[in-house]
Amino acid sequence: MTTWVMGRLLLVLLLVEIQNVLVLPQTRKSMLFECSQMPSLLQVSYTSWFLDAFNYAIATDMDVLNLSIGGPDYLDLPFVEKVWEITASNIIMVSAIGNDGPLYGTLNNPADQSDVIGVGGIDNDDHIASFSSRGMSTWELPHGYGRVKPDVVAYGRDIMGSKISTGCKSLSGTSVASPVVAGIVCLLVSVIPEARRKDLLNPASMKQALVEGAAKLSGPNMYEQGAGRVDLLESYEILKSYHPRASIFPSILDYNDCPYSWPFCRQPLYAGAMPIIFNTTILNGMGVIGYIESPPTWHPANEEGNLLSIHFKYPDVIWPWTGYLALHMQIKEEGAQFTGEIEGNVTVKVYSPPASGESGPRRSTCSLQLKLKVIPTPPRAKRILWDQFHSIKYPPGYIPRDSLDVRNDILDWHGDHLHTNFHIMYNMLRDAGYYIETLGSPLTCFDAQQYGTLLMVDLEDDYFPEEIEKLRDDVINTGLGLVVFAEWYNVDTMVKMRFFDDNTRSWWTPVTGGANIPALNNLLASFGIAFGDKILNGDFSIDGEQSRYASGTNIVRFPAGGFLHTFPLLDSSESGATQNLLLTEASKEDPAVLGLLEIGEGRVGVYGDSNCLDSSHMVTNCYWLLKKMLDFSSSNIKDPVLFSKFAKRYSPVIIDEKQLPSRRTDVNFSTYSSVIGKELICESDSRFEVWGTKGYNLHVRGRNRRLPGYHGIDLGRGLNFTVESKRPTRWRSAKEGGELSSSRSKSLGGLFNRDEIDMPFLVPTRWIVLAGVVASGVLVLLSIWRIRQKRGRRRRASGSNRLA
Ligand SMILES: *[C@@H]1O[C@H](CO)[C@@H](O)[C@H](O)[C@H]1NC(C)=O
Ligand SMILES: *[C@@H]1O[C@H](CO)[C@@H](O)[C@H](O)[C@H]1NC(C)=O
Ligand SMILES: *[C@@H]1O[C@H](CO)[C@@H](O)[C@H](O)[C@H]1NC(C)=O
Ligand SMILES: *[C@@H]1O[C@H](CO)[C@@H](O)[C@H](O)[C@H]1NC(C)=O
Ligand SMILES: *[C@@H]1O[C@H](CO)[C@@H](O)[C@H](O)[C@H]1NC(C)=O
Repeated sequence: MTTWVMGRLLLVLLLVEIQNVLVLPQTRKSMLFECSQMPSLLQVSYTSWFLDAFNYAIATDMDVLNLSIGGPDYLDLPFVEKVWEITASNIIMVSAIGNDGPLYGTLNNPADQSDVIGVGGIDNDDHIASFSSRGMSTWELPHGYGRVKPDVVAYGRDIMGSKISTGCKSLSGTSVASPVVAGIVCLLVSVIPEARRKDLLNPASMKQALVEGAAKLSGPNMYEQGAGRVDLLESYEILKSYHPRASIFPSILDYNDCPYSWPFCRQPLYAGAMPIIFNTTILNGMGVIGYIESPPTWHPANEEGNLLSIHFKYPDVIWPWTGYLALHMQIKEEGAQFTGEIEGNVTVKVYSPPASGESGPRRSTCSLQLKLKVIPTPPRAKRILWDQFHSIKYPPGYIPRDSLDVRNDILDWHGDHLHTNFHIMYNMLRDAGYYIETLGSPLTCFDAQQYGTLLMVDLEDDYFPEEIEKLRDDVINTGLGLVVFAEWYNVDTMVKMRFFDDNTRSWWTPVTGGANIPALNNLLASFGIAFGDKILNGDFSIDGEQSRYASGTNIVRFPAGGFLHTFPLLDSSESGATQNLLLTEASKEDPAVLGLLEIGEGRVGVYGDSNCLDSSHMVTNCYWLLKKMLDFSSSNIKDPVLFSKFAKRYSPVIIDEKQLPSRRTDVNFSTYSSVIGKELICESDSRFEVWGTKGYNLHVRGRNRRLPGYHGIDLGRGLNFTVESKRPTRWRSAKEGGELSSSRSKSLGGLFNRDEIDMPFLVPTRWIVLAGVVASGVLVLLSIWRIRQKRGRRRRASGSNRLA
């Protein structure tokens, strides 16, 4: 059946294309491709070209738009705002999710926007195509948690399409999956009677029809397949009986449904853990603007459900057509010994201003079903805390890649999260019996007595003085284990890596190295440890394991009594060659890259390279090393090889303060940092009891002693419904709604009030789709179709026949 439908669809598409297609001439030369090809910096697609095309689509009143382009820069504000304007103008935008798979955290913009239908690719066996980009979205990091994307998947491998000259050719990529869905959307538009179309069809109702009708595939998880394989007939059935309503996507979180519910189903909940955040999307088919009527409520289906504590976060205004509902979930202390399941539903009421001719607002109650697994709190030694807070990624800044051998991907943009490019490591740690939690707030925001080890991998940000002081205390007095995987840092190399970006007409320069070594050195100073600025490469073997050191740093300070491992690796940094000439014979020893140390009650392990944990550019993995380091830091189990007497240092490794790498002075780091120029505060990703405070007390022993909070701190919207909100009254919003429907072009002017819309990350001066970036979806073929009244009617008639 599917094949039949697809055949017909493609036919329709070709017709559509021939009859009425707008192709940007400049971008036409970039063709479709499979898998990410090298984004050459010469293949620039200017943001302004897209703005022109989008304005044309709005001005000519188009219904559906296929966009087979994308890039990682979701902070390209003029572009993102224009996409909002497109969807607010009731144009349904379908876009390719990207060809950067099978890596995770590789969603492309605009397909990653909630108001856009983001399409991933499958092959003819219903397997996710390897090239298809995987979720989650990364806009929300470090404090929050990403959304599920793609929305649906469609056939995207070896699809026959037309050749520019004549005849057909076979094409692969999410670029071809996207028009398959755009075609389905066109067919669905065409079968809704014209009179009802205006009231029923919009980007939200169309997405509801697609995700609710989609067929869930049995193998892939939600970040691979979204709702599943698009299904024209099912979606048609949904639209046929559709009444404007709001809904939540995904509408169920079921810990029994593995692997679909990965990563959630991979680790049960337990008391004392960092809150689990599930960030769902609200689809509001009732109107372009909507509001949450009263705080969402949790309805447990069983007594055990009362052990769950949930905080909700949602925006003041749901616009355009979509919003989010984030659940922060924690098991209460009473549940510390509980094993079992918690079931129930979260319900939330959404309303939109009346449509023209209606007297009262439209209302709808959405439901989200939860089936969670709970276990007793695991022992301290089995619990690991992952530092997400000090990770900075692209965008907003030029954060360079971690392995300098990888030349086709210059930016670090996959999120560096346990559920994106560290997802295999996450699975491995779970298999090894560890429980691993995420810290999205400063180091003062966790209780060190709960955790065996704090794991810090590939971190770019700076540290508050309070964090440095607390971590010292946590390790030396509270016995917290600390494991650090660093990265290269060499200012001369960074300077050399700058390039001129044609789109922004400015020089781009890395704001830090693979990791921020000067900052890490401040943090580790109290343990007598420091990293240098070599960029080391090479293969070596330890413990019988072959390892590749890929652009890592060296250890230049280490205390006596610790264990330090050196290997003959080559320095490829810019300054390396020069330094070699200046160095004395004595200092030309093999560089140290791995160190292990007992200090006070705690234990510390440091390694100079993170590529062996990062799925993005991994050559060889070093999970074995991570496990041995964790055995040591959490449980004081000493591997005989790592702790051999040959590695023991009887005198400290020392280096002059002046020789340590220093920060760049020509970069304003506060633009990218969550620390520099910011206030120390535990955000709503930390334990509920420290929200809005500075965290746990440094000097008083005992749990839950908190540092003072701030008066009037805005913890975000939705936490307390009675807090005065900027939301317009119902009457005013009704009026706004009226204006909206009468004048599309005014929709932005009337509604787009920045104060009202939650845009935490926006950087107003950016006019970017960085060259390699939009070009990373290089297949820049933008086609827009329009279903004109007359021609539409003709096709519609045939469309109905087909479906009937
Ligand atoms: C959920 O996603 C939305 C949209 O990206 C974002 O604005 C919000 O901050 C996220 N919430 C959390 C708690 O991650
Ligand atoms: C939750 O929602 C599901 C699906 O809508 C329904 O079957 C179930 O009965 C509801 N459970 C509760 C406790 O409301
Ligand atoms: C650095 O950037 C921050 C915010 O981005 C700004 O407030 C500050 O004035 C800038 N400092 C300098 C020296 O430009
Ligand atoms: C919610 O806000 C009201 C009014 O500002 C306040 O009285 C109440 O204590 C708040 N509740 C919570 C849980 O913060
Ligand atoms: C959608 O975009 C792709 C890539 O730009 C293009 O090849 C295709 O023709 C478009 N689809 C339609 C139906 O125009």
